[in-house]
Amino acid sequence: MREFKNKVAVITGAASGIGLGIAKRCVKEGIKTVLTDIEKDLLFKVTDELKDNGGDVLAVVCDVSSLEEVKKLADQTLKKYGKANLLFNNAGVIPGTNILRNTIKDFEWVIGVNLWGVIYGVNTFLPIMFEQTEESHIINVASGSSLYPGNGAYDITKYGVTAMSECMRIELKKIESHVSVSLLVPGIVDTGIVDSNRNRPQELKNPSKGSRNWDEMNKRLEEVRDRYRGSMSPDLVADMTFNAIEKDVFYIFTEMGMKNGIDARYKWMMSGFDTLQNFLEKTNRE
Ligand SMILES: NC(=O)c1ccc[n+]([C@@H]2O[C@H](COP(=O)([O-])OP(=O)(O)OC[C@H]3O[C@@H](n4cnc5c(N)ncnc54)[C@H](O)[C@@H]3O)[C@@H](O)[C@H]2O)c1
Repeated sequence: MREFKNKVAVITGAASGIGLGIAKRCVKEGIKTVLTDIEKDLLFKVTDELKDNGGDVLAVVCDVSSLEEVKKLADQTLKKYGKANLLFNNAGVIPGTNILRNTIKDFEWVIGVNLWGVIYGVNTFLPIMFEQTEESHIINVASGSSLYPGNGAYDITKYGVTAMSECMRIELKKIESHVSVSLLVPGIVDTGIVDSNRNRPQELKNPSKGSRNWDEMNKRLEEVRDRYRGSMSPDLVADMTFNAIEKDVFYIFTEMGMKNGIDARYKWMMSGFDTLQNFLEKTNRE
């Protein structure tokens, strides 16, 4: 997509971090922008600020883990702007800790928001985009955790988003669709992600203070906060994303260092074939 003016964008998780960075860039481009988030007060505050800066914007409170709410989001988008050209499936949370310690509630929460949220977004908006004749683009937000392991239950969701987006890309290109899809793979970005628990529904919370998980998580959180403080700005991620949308690039990376993680996983996978090769030779098979 090269022409952005007067297009309509929907951004999930737009009240903070990368989503907000993208919303600011959308407004700069003259895109009519629907900001949506579960954090109501902050959502209205940032939307008002964008409006004060001349943005044509709409705030819609929406929990992306609910198909019903995502459908309502689409209804409100169409009611206000009549179309949707850009969808940023960005809302995301990280429960922390690792796969050996993740609880069922961690899995339910993170899969609900990060994976079902993206599935609901695509399932709801893709038919709308297909019906339009204008160029459209879906950007699914993944992570380094989409391509190499390290963050427990979170990785499951991001690997899933990667698989979904890769399938979509191949299928959309095959039918020469006017709808395209990209995968945004941010490195470490200075956002509120470390404090994702602020938006965790009561029924999906882990037992709090006093439990081993809680103490350990808090200790880890402080270390992680230090790593994120002062890292890449969400505004820069937004600029990188728009640069890639203009070029219709699929993988949108933000950090060269991610190559090392991908390379290490690739070598790990390939080592499985060395074992197979040895077995085949030893047993005189081809
Ligand atoms: N910050 C990083 O370093 C980093 C790295 C890789 C990937 N990501 C991904 O970037 C995306 C944006 O995260 P961020 O880093 O800007 O974090 P953030 O916490 O600043 O923003 C995430 C937003 O999602 C919203 N949200 C949470 N649950 C929601 C729900 N159920 N429905 C709707 N909105 C909900 C939050 O209220 C918040 O405004 C996420 O998908 C995250 O996994 C972030």
